[in-house]
Amino acid sequence: MIACEVFENGICSLLSRLVPEGREADAPLPGNLRLWANDARLLMRALPAASVEKLFLLFPDPWPKARHAKRRFVHPLLLPEVARVLEPGATWRVASDDPIYQDWVAKVMAGQVLFEAPAPVAERPQGWPPTRYEAKALRSGRTPLYWTFTRRG
Ligand SMILES: C[S@@+](CC[C@H](N)C(=O)[O-])C[C@H]1O[C@@H](n2cnc3c(N)ncnc32)[C@H](O)[C@@H]1O
Repeated sequence: MIACEVFENGICSLLSRLVPEGREADAPLPGNLRLWANDARLLMRALPAASVEKLFLLFPDPWPKARHAKRRFVHPLLLPEVARVLEPGATWRVASDDPIYQDWVAKVMAGQVLFEAPAPVAERPQGWPPTRYEAKALRSGRTPLYWTFTRRG
């Protein structure tokens, strides 16, 4: 498992759940966990081909201004990299509560052939972890959408 988050406090918050208070410096982390405290797009470019079985993109920053659209993780230029690192048949799960990002995901995925891309659902499917941001979105009355894309073989 690779946990990826560019915001240092996010990584710290994860670590605080994994190691007991006061043992941050020397407590072992789960052996199957790696941390990537950097841009997730760089990780996509660095990973070997067909090395990932499941990818979660949970409530990514929507970058709502059109001039910042190139920073969005779901992006026509990044899709080939995402497809490359996923095994054939692997799933890519994406959740967003932002209407601009939701429309963007629908548009980008309608224009590609690398993934099967059925319509999203409005209720978190089984096996997805809840997140803090999702809870905040629900409390504020926003409706998250959940997509499951499958890497074509
Ligand atoms: C809206 S928050 C959602 C946080 C968490 N996934 C959740 O659902 O509670 C978006 C997070 O994505 C992180 N982020 C934004 N761009 C990123 C990137 N290029 N690579 C890695 N993390 C990024 C931000 O630091 C921020 O913590």
